[in-house]
Amino acid sequence: MQRLPTHIAIIMDGNGRWAKEQGEDRLYGHLHGVESVRNVVEGAAELGIKYLTLYAFSTENWDRPEYEVSGLMELLVDTIHNEVPTLNKNNIKLHVIGDVNMLPDAAKNELTQALNETSANTGLNLIMALSYSSRWEIVNAVKQIAADVQEGKLVNSEITQQTVQQYLTTKNFPDPELMIRTSGEFRISNFLLYQLAYAELYFTNTRWPDFRKENLYTAILDFQGRERRFGKTGEQIKEKEAKS
Ligand code: IPE
Ligand code: IPE
Ligand code: MG
Repeated sequence: MQRLPTHIAIIMDGNGRWAKEQGEDRLYGHLHGVESVRNVVEGAAELGIKYLTLYAFSTENWDRPEYEVSGLMELLVDTIHNEVPTLNKNNIKLHVIGDVNMLPDAAKNELTQALNETSANTGLNLIMALSYSSRWEIVNAVKQIAADVQEGKLVNSEITQQTVQQYLTTKNFPDPELMIRTSGEFRISNFLLYQLAYAELYFTNTRWPDFRKENLYTAILDFQGRERRFGKTGEQIKEKEAKS
């Protein structure tokens, strides 16, 4: 419990394959994926994790068949609507990152309401990445930085890594220390490219609809067994640990 990550990010993958394996429609997998979200959010809150980012829908996912996209959007609206009381009961504050303007009006409205209704909560920060992609985010940040330099709000020579961080959608959150991807794919798929610079990556074959808080604990235990060196040598890290 002393070495818990502050921020965990998850690429929730494998809903479609999970459904197909049962001879069901892909949307059936997404529906069951919601149960995993509930369970894992609860698990993270119980542990006292401060930030949990869930990749729910990427910019690229808009290119899926219309039937799947609209099914996912409906599921999103229903889920947000139904989960707000539970979020409040568990003191969870909801945040959204991504190009939310792309979302249908019903989803935007539910989201705005859920963000407002949970804004006073002080426990787990639950960050939903919706219509999100890292390159979209970085392009936006560059545009905004250029505009601010042009308007004299920012001086070119004074731009630092902290400045860049302040222009990202995650400006209020620390970088994730642990990134989990389910369902046996070993890639980042345009997720938090800048923020994951030093994250520990954890991959599991478990499909997202089968993922539960126990799987989260396994990932955290794996994380706790790693030596995070940040460019230094293992000896330097051990020396520092011995002193503290
Ligand atoms: C993840 O599951 C959920 C979303 C991307 C919305 P997938 O739908 O990608 O499932 P697979 O990867 O096709 O099995
Ligand atoms: C990444 O999963 C996006 C989400 C989990 C929301 P995908 O299933 O869309 O990623 P690729 O296409 O396999 O890289
Ligand atoms: Mg997938």
